[in-house]
Amino acid sequence: MTEKRERPGPLRWLRHLLDQLLVRILSLSLFRSSCDPPPLQRFPATELPSAVAAAKYVPIPRVKGLPVVGTLVDLIAAGGATHLHKYIDARHKQYGPIFRERLGGTQDAVFVSSANLMRGVFQHEGQYPQHPLPDAWTLYNQQHACQRGLFFMEGAEWLHNRRILNRLLLNGNLNWMDVHIESCTRRMVDQWKRRTAEAAAIPLAEGGEIRSYELPLLEQQLYRWSIEVLCCIMFGTSVLTCPKIQSSLDYFTQIVHKVFEHSSRLMTFPPRLAQILRLPIWRDFEANVDEVLREGAAIIDHCIRVQEDQRRSHDEALYHRLQAADVPGDMIKRIFVDLVIAAGDTLHLIQTAFSSQWALFALSKEPMLQKRLAKERATNDSRLMHGLIKESLRLYPVAPFIGRYLPQDAQLGGHFIEKDTMVLLSLYTAGRDPSHFEQPERVLPERWCIGESEQVHKSHGSLPFAIGQRSCIGRRVALKQLHSLLGRCAAQFEMSCLNEKPVDSVLRMVTVPDQTLRLALRPRTE
Ligand code: HEM
Repeated sequence: MTEKRERPGPLRWLRHLLDQLLVRILSLSLFRSSCDPPPLQRFPATELPSAVAAAKYVPIPRVKGLPVVGTLVDLIAAGGATHLHKYIDARHKQYGPIFRERLGGTQDAVFVSSANLMRGVFQHEGQYPQHPLPDAWTLYNQQHACQRGLFFMEGAEWLHNRRILNRLLLNGNLNWMDVHIESCTRRMVDQWKRRTAEAAAIPLAEGGEIRSYELPLLEQQLYRWSIEVLCCIMFGTSVLTCPKIQSSLDYFTQIVHKVFEHSSRLMTFPPRLAQILRLPIWRDFEANVDEVLREGAAIIDHCIRVQEDQRRSHDEALYHRLQAADVPGDMIKRIFVDLVIAAGDTLHLIQTAFSSQWALFALSKEPMLQKRLAKERATNDSRLMHGLIKESLRLYPVAPFIGRYLPQDAQLGGHFIEKDTMVLLSLYTAGRDPSHFEQPERVLPERWCIGESEQVHKSHGSLPFAIGQRSCIGRRVALKQLHSLLGRCAAQFEMSCLNEKPVDSVLRMVTVPDQTLRLALRPRTE
């Protein structure tokens, strides 16, 4: 089981504060953070300097901070990096939908949370949108001259690869994926169903209640499922019949989980400093990433071999589609490596796993909605399910911030933003803003069902996959996965949440529950 994620006590908190301050001061004076924007360019003589241009616009409120450390002390006092989304949420409540703050580093970031401003940022993102990258992964890629996945690419290289993947994963009819996603989901949920039936067959618990089955190691099970789904989409469901691939996937799941743990530890410590001092926190991360890349490449090689041996023409997968389009073998491998393992892209497996966990949690709190979803599924409708998925992604966006460096000076809602500024879209705040969604804390799937709700909402208040050219390439895959998992669960189980304390979110690379989720299943009786 995952350990319980506790809040630090006063002493640990003080030590944490001192550590963070020391480390930040050291790292600021020694290194430029890779999160800092690219160096500012000179303006041509004909253009006005930004300061003069800016004078015409409504000033953006600025949070005052100390020299060198900015407002880092405030963040630490609010619980540190793991509470960044809550901290920024409180700032928005104080300063409004747009403000500037320097949390450390050498330049301010601009935070925006209104639907219109967020949309405006995507309109100004330029031909080659640039986003901030996780320091630890960027450093790893540099140190190991590692092949970069789409997420890490820039400029023309990014656009070229993005266009290939857009054709395969975003545009057109993707129904061919359904069989693979359904078969992976069925395998996992059928196992839950058997265990649930076994628990229900045991004599009634005190009070005459049917016994429930508590899902063990939910986080790991959902990782494993996300990895299997991608594997099947790429190579077809038949590859899973190979015992060697099964055991490799078990191992791969474990090491991806470890990389996630190590990456999130490096969120609270400057990776560059950890790397130079060869601290265990860096060495563990590095060793794990090496292993994930090795093992991932071995799985892909093995799947290609199994595919060639089996030659099952009816098992349509991405591999066959690429072959049919005469894409060379090397290129096919490169695309798969990009999707599954290229450094940092494992993050997307984690995003799907945690979005699913949050959606199951949201559903477990709504017994009436579960009943309605079960009925809906029996009629082959899916509008309510669509609404539930939108609601869980709105309330629990696993990426609570999306960043863009603006390629040109821009005018955003009457404010002036200088070229190369890092603008962060506060998705967590936007999704819970009452001016975007009435009763924002409630799970109300109807708000997304056109014609069925009186609820006014601004759909751009929730952008869990971002929009624009650099939005999530796996959006349609992830949505299909969520539909498949939640649909099966709602039809077969009555779900409840056994956690005694209220469950909240913390940021560990992605937003995750602050305690192990304890979800219980009973067979659905009506
Ligand atoms: C519910 C699950 C998921 C969520 C919430 C999610 C969210 C996001 C977001 C917000 C971005 C944009 C980042 C930015 O603009 O800076 C993104 C990018 C990306 N996602 Fe996802 N994602 C999910 C699942 C997936 C899956 C399953 C895949 C792989 C099939 C994937 C692959 C990618 C890639 C490669 C990028 C980078 C795109 C680029 O830079 O052009 N994601 N994702």
